[in-house]
Amino acid sequence: MKSTKLNFAVIGCGMLARMQHIPNIANSQKMSLHTCCDLSDESLQICKERFCALNIGKDFNATINDPQIDAICVATTEKLRLPIIAAAAKAKKPVYCEKPLARTLDEMYEIQKIVHAANIPFCVGHNRRSSPAMREAHTIFRSHMENPKSCRWRFDREGLKRPNLPDNGKAAISVRINDDWYSWKAWVFDKQQAPFGPMLFEMTHFTDICNWFLNAEPIEVVAMEQGMLNHAVIVRYKTGELATLVMCANGTFGYPKELYEAFGNGGAVIVDHMLEVRTAGIEGAFAKRVYPMLGDCHPNIGTQNGLYGWLEKKQAACKDAVAANDPMKIFTAEPDKGHAHALEYFVDEINGTGPVVCGIDDAVMATRVAFAAIKSAKENRTVKLSEI
Ligand SMILES: NC(=O)c1ccc[n+]([C@@H]2O[C@H](COP(=O)([O-])OP(=O)(O)OC[C@H]3O[C@@H](n4cnc5c(N)ncnc54)[C@H](O)[C@@H]3O)[C@@H](O)[C@H]2O)c1
Repeated sequence: MKSTKLNFAVIGCGMLARMQHIPNIANSQKMSLHTCCDLSDESLQICKERFCALNIGKDFNATINDPQIDAICVATTEKLRLPIIAAAAKAKKPVYCEKPLARTLDEMYEIQKIVHAANIPFCVGHNRRSSPAMREAHTIFRSHMENPKSCRWRFDREGLKRPNLPDNGKAAISVRINDDWYSWKAWVFDKQQAPFGPMLFEMTHFTDICNWFLNAEPIEVVAMEQGMLNHAVIVRYKTGELATLVMCANGTFGYPKELYEAFGNGGAVIVDHMLEVRTAGIEGAFAKRVYPMLGDCHPNIGTQNGLYGWLEKKQAACKDAVAANDPMKIFTAEPDKGHAHALEYFVDEINGTGPVVCGIDDAVMATRVAFAAIKSAKENRTVKLSEI
């Protein structure tokens, strides 16, 4: 008899899949790791031995069309998306697809058409939406934007004499990304696999978060980039909201990667690396909350958790790495970026018991903003979303 868990096939069992999706599926109460499909014998061997995949294979069409398979997780690089999604759509199977959704705009629109026509549950791996810290911050921020509860101490100098500004209350979000490009793998520099570099494969995570927090329609983008490593992007929204994104890949793993700061209606919601959320100016909202970390090798250090706890743990881990001459030891106490939750929520969506997680149209919009930024930086001008 077939179990009530959904049988997942993971297509593309490389670094990300083996660090996240494969163990997350294997450990789930809602999913079974049925098939692992990859071209590499070595990867397949690991999937079988370490993660107990029931089945392994090299042919993604055969995997998708196996009647035992209920859902597909695509974690190949963006070079290979359309043929897998087209085959899954033909077989009417739900797809969780890693970001970026596609390598080119043409391919992205083709995928959107196919997914709409097949009407399959579809989720793009903009996993940060499913991070516990991000979800809570989003709920507080959206609720404050839709039903503002300003604090009683707001300094309102002019009171009723204040001018009636059209952008009164409008939201703006700032995203700061600190990365170290020495950690990147070879395919990132291969124009065949990633022709637009981090402006596409990293940026869609962050443009998605901006669109989601602001809940508005992006209309134009201006961007600058210095080579491959430094990027600055501004997004203007139809209803007056604004997003700014700064990414520097000449940074360090010794400091948190991501800082999100959203403001509006006299309030602030800050997400520091998905380790802690801080708020201000919102009546009734907590001032600070910290979130559990994953894989903490230093539970007795930085016990206050949150940003400062993480920094203490990281400093200890960096010392361990030097002492053991093993750079992998720097990875400790990672923030919960939502990878496992995203798949679990997607199963709820498939089963009709949960909302859409990050559907095709939201993913297309996040990807269009990234492509507008790429075009803007290349042509040194403001680019309208309608051009993309
Ligand atoms: N959401 C995140 O946080 C996150 C983090 C890292 C990477 N990613 C995304 O995940 C994807 C994979 O990245 P990665 O670093 O794991 O890359 P990777 O190169 O380690 O893995 C890709 C795998 O796909 C396999 N593959 C290639 N052609 C195949 C085919 N025809 N059939 C089956 N398998 C095939 C390769 O053999 C390889 O094992 C990328 O799109 C990347 O942008 C997402």
